Amino acid sequence: MSGIYFHIPFCKVRCNYCDFYKSTNLTLIKMYVTAVKEEMWLRRDYLEDKKIGTIYFGGGTPSLLSFNEIDELIGAVSSIFSIQSQAEITLEANPDDLSPEFLQSIKRSGINRLSIGIQSFSDFDLLLMGRRHNSFQAINAVREAQKAGFHNISVDLIYGIPGMTFQQWQFNLKTVFNLDIQHLSAYHLTYHENTSFYNKLQKGIIHEVEEEESLIQFEELIKIAEENHFIHYEISNFAPDGFYSKHNSSYWTQTEYLGLGPSAHSYNHKTRYWNVSNVDKYIESINQGNISGEYEVLSLNDRFNDYIITGLRTIWGIDPDFILNEFGKDFYHHVETMTEKFISTGKVKRENDRVMITKKGIFVSDQIISDYLYLNK
Ligand SMILES: C[S@@+](CC[C@H](N)C(=O)[O-])C[C@H]1O[C@@H](n2cnc3c(N)ncnc32)[C@H](O)[C@@H]1O
Ligand code: SF4
Repeated sequence: MSGIYFHIPFCKVRCNYCDFYKSTNLTLIKMYVTAVKEEMWLRRDYLEDKKIGTIYFGGGTPSLLSFNEIDELIGAVSSIFSIQSQAEITLEANPDDLSPEFLQSIKRSGINRLSIGIQSFSDFDLLLMGRRHNSFQAINAVREAQKAGFHNISVDLIYGIPGMTFQQWQFNLKTVFNLDIQHLSAYHLTYHENTSFYNKLQKGIIHEVEEEESLIQFEELIKIAEENHFIHYEISNFAPDGFYSKHNSSYWTQTEYLGLGPSAHSYNHKTRYWNVSNVDKYIESINQGNISGEYEVLSLNDRFNDYIITGLRTIWGIDPDFILNEFGKDFYHHVETMTEKFISTGKVKRENDRVMITKKGIFVSDQIISDYLYLNK
């Protein structure tokens, strides 16, 4: 089984914190759709396994595409590959794009999972972040999606927003779980260079939340998710069993995927490919019959580090026997040494012959993962 990722690089406005590649020139959408279909054709041999188990429309703002464009892209996938009957087909959406007509149309075209970017239920936070929706629209979007028959809905929230109080974060969590959703992605705010938030931070106009406050918000997230029977299956992701994101899980379990569109990444066990992060250059290169981008052939060391980074982020962890067979003795011994070190601190555990980060370790997971990486000296 393989995955297809479409990067839809368009947004009506730029949110103040976001550095994902996007253009606000919406007049390019039509040409982009033609180009991305062509790219799929040009790269039809990238995936060894042509059976597609997941399709993911990510952004940018995929909900800016018309129903016909989404339909066209799904049709193009099925004309080149074979889409499995139970395939998970996700569309990332901004709340204010989700009209009842749009929802009913995309449902008919095969979208069966929505990932709605709500970020916060505080109108003050939303204004600060430069979002184009308010809290009422966010709640309404989820309700309309449910009315249209979507029963696999994920919501994105951000915590650690400047000025966000613990009470506000608690309110956001309670509100989101009252919406009867099936999946939650909750990210700590990151300040990326070249964003308005980063510039304001540099000028002292906004301030980062204290580390201790961040940890308290993370703890509350884990606690309230648990109370609602959501399993913390990946550092930023929570869902009841059966609703884990199949597409994102495939990134974490080394399943091959083809990423289409500007700035999209692809992976097929042997190579990693990055498309150019520029929609004009992307369209121009496709029109000339090639795809502007870069690729690297993955070394054994790269593949091991990928396995560690992705595996230790999840509740399934890593498998030492697999490491021995796939990567060899040196990597295996390195992992065993690290595991012994962290088990003694209670931050890592062994379970069913696998090794994973514990609830205690999750708060310092970046540090643990970095120690497990194998650095070629
Ligand atoms: C790239 S966006 C695409 C979804 C859609 N355009 C939206 O904004 O609702 C995917 C998610 O990444 C998260 N995100 C983007 N920038 C972030 C940042 N600087 N820190 C934390 N989370 C971020 C947000 O939660 C967002 O919903
Ligand atoms: S958060 Fe979403 S809508 Fe905002 S700029 Fe990023 S991709 Fe666009």
